[in-house]
Amino acid sequence: MSIYRKHVFVCTSGKHCPQAGGEEVLKCLRAEIASRGLKEEIRINKSGCLDQCGNGPMVVVYPDAIWYARVKPSDCQEIVESHLIGDKPVERLLLDHRGKLV
Ligand code: FES
Repeated sequence: MSIYRKHVFVCTSGKHCPQAGGEEVLKCLRAEIASRGLKEEIRINKSGCLDQCGNGPMVVVYPDAIWYARVKPSDCQEIVESHLIGDKPVERLLLDHRGKLV
């Protein structure tokens, strides 16, 4: 097994992300990857709290160390196509660009 080209962590626990839709974001990202046959090179994992409670659902992409805040299921296709496939992060969702939202 090779190392994943992109490894994505979606917060699905803690005080905020589950209520904000973390599981739905996880499912839609996994579905987008599976439908494109990319499961061998792009991995979507659940994560515990990322200490950004209140900004979630939080999504982090490695090896890029890109943090997305307040991700919605409707953002999943763009994250996959622009960032995970195209290597161009979705700037409007970046935690840094959205400021401290908490
Ligand atoms: S609950 Fe998701 S960052 Fe803390």
